[in-house]
Amino acid sequence: MTAKPAESADSLESGPPVVLETVEALRKAVRGWRTRGETVALVPTMGALHQGHLALIEAAFEAADRVVVSIFVNPAQFAPEEDFDAYPRAGEADLKHLAEARVDTAFVPSAAEMYPPDFATTVRVGAVTEGLCGATRPHFFAGVATVVTKLLLQCLPEAAIFGEKDYQQLVAVRRLVRDLDIPTRIIAVATVREPDGLAVSSRNAYLTPEQRRIARSLSAVLHAMAERLAEGAPAIQQVDRGMAELGVAGFDGVEYLAVCDADSLEPISSVERPARVLAAVYLGTTRLIDNVPVAPAARA
Ligand code: PAF
Repeated sequence: MTAKPAESADSLESGPPVVLETVEALRKAVRGWRTRGETVALVPTMGALHQGHLALIEAAFEAADRVVVSIFVNPAQFAPEEDFDAYPRAGEADLKHLAEARVDTAFVPSAAEMYPPDFATTVRVGAVTEGLCGATRPHFFAGVATVVTKLLLQCLPEAAIFGEKDYQQLVAVRRLVRDLDIPTRIIAVATVREPDGLAVSSRNAYLTPEQRRIARSLSAVLHAMAERLAEGAPAIQQVDRGMAELGVAGFDGVEYLAVCDADSLEPISSVERPARVLAAVYLGTTRLIDNVPVAPAARA
């Protein structure tokens, strides 16, 4: 990656972002900003930046004077049979997006910087990571929790920004920050969607045109379920109906479709408090996740 030299991390000029590759350089830059009374927001990413990430960056600028975007495809959150090698890596294109978004600092550590050979610590968040995606990807949340904890401790930002698209990840990060007394405010940003409703995701690039056509039904099914649940429909009935609708739409498999409490992620039978409808589905080998909020109907 080409970029401004690290020394200019303290200037607020626009242009290509300063790329910092070591924890030491990141800490030095953050210390310099703090000395001048500037606040810092971190946007953790795995690169392949898209509109969803740009919305996170926008929220970061509203929260702090300085925005650090980390780009690190975290091997610890991929199982051996998953798409770590194939995961899109955009390099220069990511830096161009960051420059356009006026981000002046990218933290792009190597795997060796994040996980030296004798690395031996794993952060695990309990109950909220056990169901939903955690049921089939048990390694995933430990990998995310470990890398997010490291990034927060490396940068010590006042705020860190996460998308609601990965809702269970957001809940897990909120929980770990609370449990470990990490002094960072977690800011959630609503899912960015394509005009037909498909949640923007780096993995959408894997879809064939036919799969892409089917994919749009996922958000339509979830939103329709959320509307009926808000009107008082029982969750079990809506899950059955949603499963049937996803089948008719042409999805190759449904890993889960669930109605859960928005904070605990416990499955619920009816919506009395803020809730979430969440799903993971397959189109060929591509796994898509999505979720939508459900607000309980106001009682007379
Ligand atoms: O959501 C992501 O892109 C990743 O899970 C995160 C939070 C950057 C950790 O690697």
